[in-house]
Amino acid sequence: MPGAVIPDDLCDLIGAARRVVALTGAGISAESGVPTFRDAQTGLWAQYDPAELATPEAFARDPALVWRWYRWRRELIAGVAPNSGHRALARWAARAESLVVVTQNVDGLHHQAGQEQVIELHGNITRTRCVNGHVVEAAEPERERCSRCGARLRPDVVWFGEALPEGALEAAERAVREADLVLSVGTSSLVQPAASLPVWAITAGKPVVEINPVATPISGQVRFSLRGKAGELLPALADCA
Ligand code: OAD
Repeated sequence: MPGAVIPDDLCDLIGAARRVVALTGAGISAESGVPTFRDAQTGLWAQYDPAELATPEAFARDPALVWRWYRWRRELIAGVAPNSGHRALARWAARAESLVVVTQNVDGLHHQAGQEQVIELHGNITRTRCVNGHVVEAAEPERERCSRCGARLRPDVVWFGEALPEGALEAAERAVREADLVLSVGTSSLVQPAASLPVWAITAGKPVVEINPVATPISGQVRFSLRGKAGELLPALADCA
């Protein structure tokens, strides 16, 4: 949608916003070729069972299987690049007093796009840590042990049933509290605690703009619900900044 039409009142709101928070999910990386989780057919959870691949219990049961799946995702992500949506946010950040990205994504594409302030709620798939939390370098993490404590190595991502990285949620809440505009981009708004952030912003009376090709549980409550792709709408929104 080159030249996507942005309503005047939204463009004015963006132009006046000084502190912006963008809450992002798998949808912002979809146009880079990273599969989402819950989209029918193409979503990862339509093809794989999260209970077998993305829980601490699954890893304890069959670390080789979990590592095979993460190695496949690491290779996939290593072969993609940020898209116009990631780049638009980074461009917007250079114009606003502050623009903080709070992402559920583990692909590192916001950083790659030049975005400086990024809070990664679910970790980063390119990093390896041991089960005791030491982040280490490992060429063959499925075979090596932690150089500091000898424990088993795992990807540095958050699995179902695990707590978020220390301080990440608090930092995200602080950013939302200080924001005068909140974007919710490419997320199903179903996974807690990330999904509580836009709801909290709505409750606090902040203008929330949602970007998603389909409706989500928050669509009826946000100030602007834009139905479309992040890679097409975000460049048009950034032009208002
Ligand atoms: P989901 O797969 O649940 O949702 C992706 C959302 O992106 C959907 O609402 C799509 O409609 C939307 N979408 C698809 N293409 C898009 C595009 N081009 N532009 C904008 N939106 C688009 O992904 P998340 O909400 O990020 O957690 O999922 C949250 C968490 O659930 C993930 O971090 C992961 C997963 O299980 C863990 O692994 C712990």
